[in-house]
Parts: sequence; structure tokens; C-alpha cells
Amino acid sequence: METVKVGVIGTGFIGPAHVEALRRIGHIEVVALAEVDQATAKAKADALGIPRAYGDYRELLEDDEVIAVHNCTPNKLHYPVNRAILEAGKHCISEKPLAMNSDESRRLVELAEQSGLVHAMNFNYRLNPLVQHARVMIERGEIGEVRHARGAYAQDWLLKPTDYNWRINVADAGPSRCFADIGSHWCDTVQTLAGAHIDEVMADFTIVHDERLRPRGEVESFAGKQPSAEDLEPCKVETEDLAMVMMKLSNGATASLVATQVSAGFKNAFTFTVDGSEASISWDQERPNELWIGHRDRANEKLVKDPDLLHEEIAELAHFPGGHPEGYPVGTKNMCLLAYRDIRAGGPAEKPLYATFQDGHAEMCIVDAAVESARDRRWTKVER
Ligand SMILES: NC(=O)c1ccc[n+]([C@@H]2O[C@H](COP(=O)([O-])OP(=O)(O)OC[C@H]3O[C@@H](n4cnc5c(N)ncnc54)[C@H](O)[C@@H]3O)[C@@H](O)[C@H]2O)c1
Repeated sequence: METVKVGVIGTGFIGPAHVEALRRIGHIEVVALAEVDQATAKAKADALGIPRAYGDYRELLEDDEVIAVHNCTPNKLHYPVNRAILEAGKHCISEKPLAMNSDESRRLVELAEQSGLVHAMNFNYRLNPLVQHARVMIERGEIGEVRHARGAYAQDWLLKPTDYNWRINVADAGPSRCFADIGSHWCDTVQTLAGAHIDEVMADFTIVHDERLRPRGEVESFAGKQPSAEDLEPCKVETEDLAMVMMKLSNGATASLVATQVSAGFKNAFTFTVDGSEASISWDQERPNELWIGHRDRANEKLVKDPDLLHEEIAELAHFPGGHPEGYPVGTKNMCLLAYRDIRAGGPAEKPLYATFQDGHAEMCIVDAAVESARDRRWTKVER
């Protein structure tokens, strides 16, 4: 099998996770990376063992050996960089969100569809083996009619007013922060599970700290370093630390989500329960090897991840036998596994399990509607 040569743009927190995921799949080689400048690119390339380092992503796009590119830059660069990747004739794997708003994401969908290239998004949670098992359970009617999805995505890394990251700046991240950044994962997962679209939203956004202290230089996400007091300057916060969102789905079900980045002790607490007419299913990404199945008239169950016990069509998404836990990295690995299968096949599959730019656009439309709903304090339709 021929080795597919890949480039990665942006190597802060999530870029190296893509590199690791790619290295866990055979016959793929990350041959180049691009960063903000040449010195950073060189240092990151040395650290990650990647042969070629570019200080400008446009140089990477001129590298003829590279046929697929991962965009792991901050949000404001997703539209221009995704566009440039597709225009360079390379398959595009983008981090979420697809763009800063739905006008941009609509244009990217058009471009991607015209290109015939593979376009994937890293909504990784939908590709955890037990989430896909739950999806197939729902599809087969094993929990009855889906009535409601409820859950939370709770983190604490922005709890203090001294916590800062580019995600707080509207110009870098967009007009919604907590809902767009982490709530979007939950919406994508729930739409995947229910096989339905979110059609209407009622959102309430809270800014806990309307002023934060920002370090004078750049900060890498989740690096865990606290700058000293003299290196900080005040800045105004315009995006939500906490979002409560009610939703109506196209299949008649409803959903409710609390997304928060200011909940002490909650690191990456992504949870959902889908309530069906016959049974409920719950999953917690911090305990990703367990799927809880709730019954009314018999004992509840806990399915522990084991490829031999998963529905056959998705069992390949579990890579280790029962009793050998898999966690957060498995979602990105599965996204790469399936997207690169399509890349080898020459183009996108009809309905891939991984998120595509169409899914990324759908998510941007939900974010736009939630921002409008929170501002106008009313139910708002998701316009596609
Ligand atoms: N799917 C997930 O679970 C997940 C998790 C974390 C982040 N993300 C997404 O990934 C993106 C990056 O987030 P992060 O947490 O890694 O941020 P980060 O700040 O840690 O890393 C961003 C990197 O991009 C680099 N960069 C900035 N401008 C660049 C340019 N012009 N050219 C090349 N590189 C450039 C920065 O130097 C930095 O290394 C965000 O859009 C975020 O939403 C997704």
C-alpha cells in the first residue's frame, strides 16, 4: 500500500493529537508542518519528529508531496486556511468550528463539493466506539422512540478571571465561545445519535467574568502555565462562559444542554443521556469505556467496551479487546482512519461516519441561531 504524505498546520494543543492519531494508522506519514513563524515551525518539527518545517502555511500548500492537510489553527484561520487547502487541490481535514460564521462555512461546503476532495471535520466524540454503538442501537429501535437528549459539557479551565486564551477574543474565535467551542461537540453528537437535525434553539448565555486579565504575549491552550501579575493586562469579555440551550429536533424530539467552562473540578465532562420510549442510554466521555443502558421493568445494564459485544458494523472502531480501555484519542484516530480510507478511494463516501464540511456548516448554523436567540431572548429557527 502506498504511503499517504500529510501536512499539519498549527501544532499547539490539538495539532500533535492529529499527528499521534495519524501515526497510529498504517501507511500514513506526516512529512511537514506549518506554524506562525519559521523558528516555531522548526522547534515543533524537531519535537514531533517531522522532517519539513514551514513558517508560512502557504509554503506547505506548495509542497507537491503532501496530498492531505490538517487545519489545527485557531478559529479565525479556519476559513482562509481550509479554502487555501482545497484550492491547492489537497484533501482537507479541519478542526472545528468549520469557520467563524455560516456565510463562510456555506462557501466552504460549495468549494469542497465542487472539488471532489475529501473534507472531514474533527467532531471526535461521535466516533468513540460506544457512541457509535449507541447510534446503531437507536437506529435499530432498541431504545424505542427517541424523546429527549439531555446532558452537559463542563470544564473549569476558564474559572478564574486570570484565565485567558485566544478563544476569549471575538476577533480570534467568533461571537460565541463556550457554546461554539464545546457545546458544538455535544450538538454534533446528539444529531449523530438521533439521526436528526437541530431545527430550533432557545439559548441563554452568561458571562461570569466581564473583564479578564490577559497575558501580554500569546498563550498556548491547556499549557498549564500561569503568568505573573506584571505580565497581565485587563480586557473586556464579550462571549459567554456558560450556555443553557434548549433545542427542538427534526424527528420531534427535544434536547437540553448546559455548556460551561467555569465549573470547578470538571475537566472535560461531556455527558449525554438519550431518553427513548423503551430505554435510556448514557455516556460520559471521562468514563468512555462504559455505556449505561436504563430500563423501567428490569435491571439496568452497563456495557463495557469490547469489540466482540459491539454492533458489527461499527466494531472496527474499537482497537483493543475487552478489558483494554480506550479514551479521548480514539475519536480522532477513527476520524483519520475513515477519512483516509476515502482519500485512498479517491473521494468522499456517500454518507461517511466522520463529520464532513456539511456537518461543520450545520453546526455553524446552530451557533448563529443560538447567538441570535440569546441576544433576542426567544426561540430561533436554525437557517441553513
Ligand atoms: N476536536 C477537539 O476535541 C478539539 C480540541 C481542542 C481544540 N480544537 C480546535 O482546534 C483548534 C486549535 O485549538 P488548540 O487548542 O490546539 O489551540 P492552540 O492555541 O493550542 O494551538 C493553535 C496553534 O496554531 C498555531 N498558529 C496560529 N496561527 C498560525 C498560522 N498563521 N499558521 C500556522 N499555525 C498557526 C499557533 O502557533 C498554535 O501552535 C481550535 O479551532 C479548536 O476549536 C478541537
